[in-house]
Amino acid sequence: MVEVLGIALGVGFTLTAVLLHYAKGTGWEPAEDVSTTLLERRAAAVPETDFAEPMNRSIGGGGAAIPAGTADAEGELAGDAEEAETGFDPEAIPDEEVEHYEIEFGKEGETIEVANNETILEAGEDEDWDLPYSCRQGQCLSCSGHIADGPAEDFVKHSNNDTLSDEEMENGYCLTCTAHPTTDFTIETGETP
Ligand code: FES
Repeated sequence: MVEVLGIALGVGFTLTAVLLHYAKGTGWEPAEDVSTTLLERRAAAVPETDFAEPMNRSIGGGGAAIPAGTADAEGELAGDAEEAETGFDPEAIPDEEVEHYEIEFGKEGETIEVANNETILEAGEDEDWDLPYSCRQGQCLSCSGHIADGPAEDFVKHSNNDTLSDEEMENGYCLTCTAHPTTDFTIETGETP
């Protein structure tokens, strides 16, 4: 009896499935997939980087978002971002105007002299310290360090910064690969916002 009932149910379900398969649908169509369009639009809104870094902050590299519609060509986008952050060229400092500052590296436990035409990262590497970095162009966050007495701009000038926001610099963060000292300070290397 049970077997007959089971077979009947099986046949019933199978027929139902076949009928549903051939039945006319509701006419529903999936919405157009716009994810690629959105990703491309997002990538066009940030500067391109010329290095590969996993987990970079944004698609297309860099992090300095440019308001949509301010530029239409890729080259123009990169140029605008650069203009916003450049203005300090350490190589343009004449030898007689090079100044040295006392920079204390907290984690390394030493204070060294750093010239204003060299970066915090370079000065630390000259001491054979294994400091973090990736692009060395101010385009990622690998070399980020923290100045507890910040804002960072009171202590360093960046030759390029495509990554840190004004708020992050206000909170004392700087990119050691492009940061040049303008006074004495203490820095904690390997610290990210
Ligand atoms: S190493 Fe990439 S910003 Fe400094």
